Amino acid sequence: SNEIKILAIESSCDETAAAVVVNGRDVRSNVISSQIALHTLYGGVVPEIASRKHIEKINQVIGQALSDAGMTLDDMDAIGVTYGPGLVGALLVGVAEAKAISYAKKLPLVGVHHIEGHISANYIENKDLEPPFLCLVVSGGHTHLVKVLDYGKYEILGKTRDDAAGEAFDKVARAIGLGYPGGPKIEKVAHEGNPHAVEFPHAKIVDGPYDFSFSGLKSAVLNYLNGCKMKNIPIVQADIAASFQKAVTDVLIGNAMKAIDEFGMDKFAIAGGVASNGTLREGMRAACEKKGVAFYHPSPIFCTDNAAMIGVAAYYDFMRGQRDGLDLNAVPNLKL
Ligand code: KG4
Ligand code: ZN
Repeated sequence: SNEIKILAIESSCDETAAAVVVNGRDVRSNVISSQIALHTLYGGVVPEIASRKHIEKINQVIGQALSDAGMTLDDMDAIGVTYGPGLVGALLVGVAEAKAISYAKKLPLVGVHHIEGHISANYIENKDLEPPFLCLVVSGGHTHLVKVLDYGKYEILGKTRDDAAGEAFDKVARAIGLGYPGGPKIEKVAHEGNPHAVEFPHAKIVDGPYDFSFSGLKSAVLNYLNGCKMKNIPIVQADIAASFQKAVTDVLIGNAMKAIDEFGMDKFAIAGGVASNGTLREGMRAACEKKGVAFYHPSPIFCTDNAAMIGVAAYYDFMRGQRDGLDLNAVPNLKL
């Protein structure tokens, strides 16, 4: 047939995931085995535990992805796998597995950049979306404002100087007693809070108009909490959550709109775990509408880590002729 079928594997952090993607945008299966419950016990991802769990789960997850798609390894045309950035031990499990399948089944191997995967998640449900467009990638490890020039061609306009946006959500959630993972928990309690209760700082970076900084905001929340304790002022979790969430989204929206104006972009997309946040999504949608800019975002299930997005990116890499050898290695700090 003239269908290109790709088995994709993702294991860069705490989700063991596999998917089957046909012709780049048709997701036939998307299996995610989350370790969140396990890491919650420790208040964050424990790398050693993540690696061990990936090893335990990966064969089962791949088997499920193939059977959900009604296919076998013999139907596949290529294997796509995340090889960086991420936790080295976690990445190695997926890479070793992909290499083993590639060797045993004589299937072409395509190493995928995790951030390229997040960006590509936008192609799944927006069949008309094509580069060029502007994309804000906001996850637990990354905050990148990226010009997507073409498939596989990116220009980074700005990134975080310290904490990633998701990391800030996770740290503030821990500080106000919400636990891990912080993003979804802050979003939930923020619904009950007043976003104007506390005016947290909006960091501006003078020599990098599209760069971000979230460690100052995190410190401001910690200082505010200490101040409340000292002055015996009751801490209202929902108000702090809502005010913090507003500060983060205001900065993300502000920088994105500045870049849209500066570069005259007419399409804008968000990606990564934090892109599943409703306040951020609706704020971006409204800001884009005002400018007449088309706004794209993946469904929440394709925002957080998954293998479908890796399969999409692998397809475009594969069609451009990318083939990796059995010497493909995990690269924990891989650059886009
Ligand atoms: O993309 P992702 O699953 O993994 C990385 O590549 O990092 O992103 C995970 C991050 C975590 O920091 C999590 O707290 C954040 O995304 N996140 C959210 C929401 N859901 C997940 N942040 C804000 N609001 C959410 N609803
Ligand atoms: Zn991710």
